[in-house]
Amino acid sequence: FPAPESRQVEVHSAPSLGLTRRMRRNRKAEWSRRLVRENLLTSDDLIWPIFLMDAAEACTPVEWMPGVDRLNIDEAVRQAAAAAELGIPAIAPFPFVEKALRDPTGSEALNGQNLMCRAVRAIKKEVPQIGIICDAALDPYTSHGHDGVMDGERVLNDASVAILVRQALALADAGADVIAPSDMMDGRVAAIREALDAGGHEDVQIMAYAAKYASAFYGPFRDAIGTNATLIGDKRTYQMDPANSDEAMAEVALDLEEGADMIMVKPGLPYLDVVARVKEHFRVPTFAYQVSGEYAMLMAAVRNGWLDGDKAILESLLAFKRAGADGVLTYFAPRVAKALKAAR
Ligand code: PBG
Repeated sequence: FPAPESRQVEVHSAPSLGLTRRMRRNRKAEWSRRLVRENLLTSDDLIWPIFLMDAAEACTPVEWMPGVDRLNIDEAVRQAAAAAELGIPAIAPFPFVEKALRDPTGSEALNGQNLMCRAVRAIKKEVPQIGIICDAALDPYTSHGHDGVMDGERVLNDASVAILVRQALALADAGADVIAPSDMMDGRVAAIREALDAGGHEDVQIMAYAAKYASAFYGPFRDAIGTNATLIGDKRTYQMDPANSDEAMAEVALDLEEGADMIMVKPGLPYLDVVARVKEHFRVPTFAYQVSGEYAMLMAAVRNGWLDGDKAILESLLAFKRAGADGVLTYFAPRVAKALKAAR
């Protein structure tokens, strides 16, 4: 059905707008787009969170995170080696702790032979070139699923810090390169720093989960480490209110004063404004965590064929760089490192 004569548009004889500045000029060809590109994502920007499990099977799938497995120690060593080969600088292991080993004070966290410590030793031995970033928080180990110890309904601050310090020391003794307190207790960075120094671990870095929000996007992670069913209540008395960003600045300032070497904002994409504000103001190594719920959202659409996986994932990660992040914790790390390698 050709349009009637009167509606046909003569595109070639349209008058020029006479513009001086045409933003499209620099976009005209791939070489030019490459030349003016402001931000770049490389494998150096990636930290890969992995899940550990004491199991005979090498891999146990995480139901709520398609494509992500819990790895036994041998498999974790193999995958850490593969990640190093792909140019990924660091991994961040998280344990699925057997229910029988969980108790109200998270005492298994202090066991120098626990799953995390054994895995750290094994990975350090076989893959010494990869950095290992270990969470300091009690939630994988507590029967109630909170990051600290409780008195009735209350999560105690100072008593929790005392235990977190000992957990951090156990991890550092096992060979952790970085301690990442994700518990959001007040004063834990200073306490951990002091204990690490006293324990001969002056070189162990602290990556503080400085602005960690009480987010609905951690659900699949809690499925992965098996705390969904056991968590009593929520974490709003210690994790931040998603409504706040001035408060994030105060949290970051405190953690830096207390000795944090690097700081983190978490979750990621929904909190890019916080990443940008923090980086702009403090100019320190700043990381963002693209959390399990963000992974699950993207994967759900990718699996349905509603998004082009590699493109959407790379775009989501580039957004962190644009916001000012120096790196991103992402479950997509190996996939992305492979895609970046292939694109070169
Ligand atoms: C534990 C911890 C959590 C995550 C990282 N460390 C969960 C929580 O605070 O409940 C979430 C990571 C993710 O969702 O990918 N302190």
